[in-house]
Amino acid sequence: MTKEEGPDGMGAGPKFKVPSAKPDGALRVLFLGDVCAEPGRKAVEQELAGLRRRLGADFIIVNGENAAGGYGITPKLADGLLRAGVGCITTGDHAYDRKEVWEYLGTERRILRPLNFPPQAPGRGYGVFEVCWANTAAIEETKETKVKVAVVNLQGRVFMKPLDCPFRRVLPVLDEIRRETQLVFVDIHAEATAEKQGMSWFLDGRVSAVLGSHTHVQTADEAILAGGTAFISDVGMCGSFDSVLGMSKDLSLRRMVEMVPVRLQPATGDVRLNGVWVDVEVATGRALAIGRLSEPVALSANQTAAG
Ligand SMILES: [Fe+2]
Ligand SMILES: [Fe+2]
Repeated sequence: MTKEEGPDGMGAGPKFKVPSAKPDGALRVLFLGDVCAEPGRKAVEQELAGLRRRLGADFIIVNGENAAGGYGITPKLADGLLRAGVGCITTGDHAYDRKEVWEYLGTERRILRPLNFPPQAPGRGYGVFEVCWANTAAIEETKETKVKVAVVNLQGRVFMKPLDCPFRRVLPVLDEIRRETQLVFVDIHAEATAEKQGMSWFLDGRVSAVLGSHTHVQTADEAILAGGTAFISDVGMCGSFDSVLGMSKDLSLRRMVEMVPVRLQPATGDVRLNGVWVDVEVATGRALAIGRLSEPVALSANQTAAG
């Protein structure tokens, strides 16, 4: 694979090096971090098909909790991500920011809210999806079959709202899921690294991957744990990196320096996609490999407005 240079003027450097083809018998899943405002959405919509081809990804999960100007997601924006090829949208503490999504959370199976919200809250905390799976990357030997992939959305409680215990809530759900599939991906949407690490050890050997979201900053601790679970504390963000967590530097600084509660607006410059790819052995559900990606994106001319 030749190294592709990043777009002019972008600070993120060259496009990430695509890993070698997935091993025979493996499912490759791409998980992209919090999609922040229009730059993040447009980057996903513009780049996803190409990224999927380059990676040979079978299934794509995206955290969409900041898709609507940084605050929540709407049905229209979720539909746009799904049309672009996203198989499942996870969310987090911003799940209910936009009222118009509440009903949609209950009707669209491909969008999740954290499992440990109160049971009465609209939406569902996990889903099992039928995925077209190519058993090998060698095209002439490919057999396309369907496999079931489960996604579970959890939220942490350290420095966050006091939701139900995610550790206690997840186990019965995993018992349910195991009747259908052993390919299980968990988005642990949490502030504290320690809580995410704790969840990874708690679920090691029980799920295929525990992937952190929420902080918008990608960590460098990706690993396959002893029991065969892939883990990273945070996969990062899709959006503007000339920013504070995807939002305007000036307004963020006013909040910090002057302590005035101005409403943040999305930033626009230095757009990147952050995420991880994970290879999982379909026969066992064990993770084989995990790798980070941070991809600079030059939005096409008609896709540069903020919002
Ligand atoms: Fe977020
Ligand atoms: Fe969040």
